[in-house]
Amino acid sequence: MNSEVLVRLEKVVKSFGEKTIIENLSLDIFAGEFLTLLGPSGCGKTTVLRMISGLESVSSGRVFLEGKDVTDLPAAKREVNTIFQDFALFPHLTVWENVNFGLKMKKVSKLDSEKRIKSALRLVKLSGFEDRYPSQLSGGQKQRVAIARGIVMDHSILLLDESLASLDLKLKREMQLELKKLQKTLEMTFVYVTHDQDEALTMSDRIAIMNAGRIVQLGTPEEIYKNPKNAFVKSFISDIDLINFKKTRMSRYDQSKK
Ligand SMILES: Nc1ncnc2c1ncn2[C@@H]1O[C@H](COP(=O)(O)OP(=O)(O)OP(=O)(O)O)[C@@H](O)[C@H]1O
Ligand SMILES: [Mg+2]
Repeated sequence: MNSEVLVRLEKVVKSFGEKTIIENLSLDIFAGEFLTLLGPSGCGKTTVLRMISGLESVSSGRVFLEGKDVTDLPAAKREVNTIFQDFALFPHLTVWENVNFGLKMKKVSKLDSEKRIKSALRLVKLSGFEDRYPSQLSGGQKQRVAIARGIVMDHSILLLDESLASLDLKLKREMQLELKKLQKTLEMTFVYVTHDQDEALTMSDRIAIMNAGRIVQLGTPEEIYKNPKNAFVKSFISDIDLINFKKTRMSRYDQSKK
């Protein structure tokens, strides 16, 4: 992680009709960082991701990507990929075609595309699955196709919205380790959304705790755990024994790197 700001939200407000969902939110996300938005259902996490990707406009405020003001730039022109909770794979396309989709839209040459798809599928351990359709894959495999589709574009920012929420616990733990490893290997910036505190604490460099459209506290897992700013944060994360938790989980992560 370095101090280059990759994503900047500046005094962002989002209203739907009369209702203000996001209130004056400012956030800097650094290059190579794993930043998690953590908060209860309905607090505005998905809306924040959608404003970064351009799938949602801002009512006021500015959005910057790599120093460039992209507030008025449509989603297709932003160098960002999103992995949606439901994976959003095309059922009538094979694994290869799904991963190729974005490259084709961008008119990347066939030779270059082939190289990139192969390498992405290798990274998510799906070599040999190229000709399968999504209906012929397990939940975890579908998940990995969605990740391959996200990383193949070679953008430096990947947005992940509750990407592991639908997996069973064992697979979820495995995928958490794999995602973290991938993020480090590729030196990508991940903006990760979850309402799972365990997940946030193990995977993140920093966590932004959200409540009702605001960031209540921003810091490293340790900072937030040791010094919760208010009763809300405290109640939200205090039921975890962080020290033991980190020790066991991170040693598993270190082992998985070998
Ligand atoms: N297009 C829309 N029109 C009106 N209200 C919306 C729209 N999209 C989201 N909202 C509202 O904005 C609030 C925040 O929604 P958002 O999807 O960002 O929450 P979230 O934190 O991602 O929740 P969850 O954890 O359940 O996914 C909710 O009250 C939601 O009903
Ligand atoms: Mg959501």
